[in-house]
Amino acid sequence: MIEERFREIFGGAPEVVARAPGRVNLIGEHTDYNDGFVLPAAIDRYVWYAGRRRADQKVLAHSLDFADSVEFSLNDIRKDAAHAWSNYLRGVCVFVQESGLRLPGADIVLGGDVPREAGLSSSAAVEVAAAALWHKLANLAPEPVALVKLARRAENEFVGVPSGIMDQFISALGRKNHALFLDCRTLEYRHVPLQPEVKIVVCNSGVKRALAQSEYSVRARQCREAVDRLRAAGLAVNALRDVTPEQLEAHRSTLSDIQFKRARHVVSENDRVLRAVRALEDGDVENFGKLMNASHESLRDDYEVSSRELDVLASLAWRQPGVLGARMTGAGFGGCTVNLVRESAAEDFVEAIRAGYEEVLKLRAEVYVCQASNGALASAE
Ligand code: GLA
Repeated sequence: MIEERFREIFGGAPEVVARAPGRVNLIGEHTDYNDGFVLPAAIDRYVWYAGRRRADQKVLAHSLDFADSVEFSLNDIRKDAAHAWSNYLRGVCVFVQESGLRLPGADIVLGGDVPREAGLSSSAAVEVAAAALWHKLANLAPEPVALVKLARRAENEFVGVPSGIMDQFISALGRKNHALFLDCRTLEYRHVPLQPEVKIVVCNSGVKRALAQSEYSVRARQCREAVDRLRAAGLAVNALRDVTPEQLEAHRSTLSDIQFKRARHVVSENDRVLRAVRALEDGDVENFGKLMNASHESLRDDYEVSSRELDVLASLAWRQPGVLGARMTGAGFGGCTVNLVRESAAEDFVEAIRAGYEEVLKLRAEVYVCQASNGALASAE
């Protein structure tokens, strides 16, 4: 328990605790920074914080996962390359203060079980839980979307990773047994119930997302360039979100082959998300699963962010009985696949994937059955 660890490290009890979950994205990949649609679910893996106010302006933070401590002043927050884990917390402090909150100094312990660098958004969980903790320490109830935005600013502007808004949003606003359908332009969202007889299974390829950051920026740039060219050709669009499949096809010659493929992924993926949400709301999990499979193919062939390991995991899954759909999840280039599996088949599925992955690649895949969970700001159910 985080309270226990706090006692061991700082002596005495913490005043507040906060937690935020990791996530899987069921469908809608690389659409968030194109003003599009996503359908993630929070999972039952969390980052926890315990904190206690101090009389001064110092922050003393201890990471259980890194067995490492830092100290900094709220009046002078800088990036610390030697303790990179603390930059998420530092960045959140910067933007919470910028939002007008007067923060007390604090003793803080954090730790959790969201696998790192696995595409399950452990960094968003660290940020969202930190933002929730600071609001508690300052005795203020956060405005949810404002908290999501400042957690994302910590990631984009302080840590320096140019991600979209999906991960912080779901980590804050996920709901137990539901996925969250989010329009990343308007930030309107609704929770979509998941069927109890269908399980979300995550397969971790064990391959860290090596190229993810540089290639992510390249993809984002290619999407912007495609929009610029379409606009120059007379289309009144602000983002790939605004482009229809017919418009894209009609303007194919305006785009380079690469730009066309990137745009085709985003345009078709947005359409798949809308159809997937309708399928889920109609209880048509089979159709939902087919859309997941098509999403993987599009990420592999058009967006080119999959990897050999992720492709092996997806195709192994497609062959198993009781599997509705399987695809890579998150930014790509390693990390995890997400699988929708009938409950009755879940146990055999876990075994078959472990064995198959070992046989084909001589690698060990960690496979977890997940529970869609509450985000940091959801009221406990
Ligand atoms: C990462 C980013 C998200 C999103 C996904 C791809 O997880 O943090 O904002 O862009 O990649 O869908």
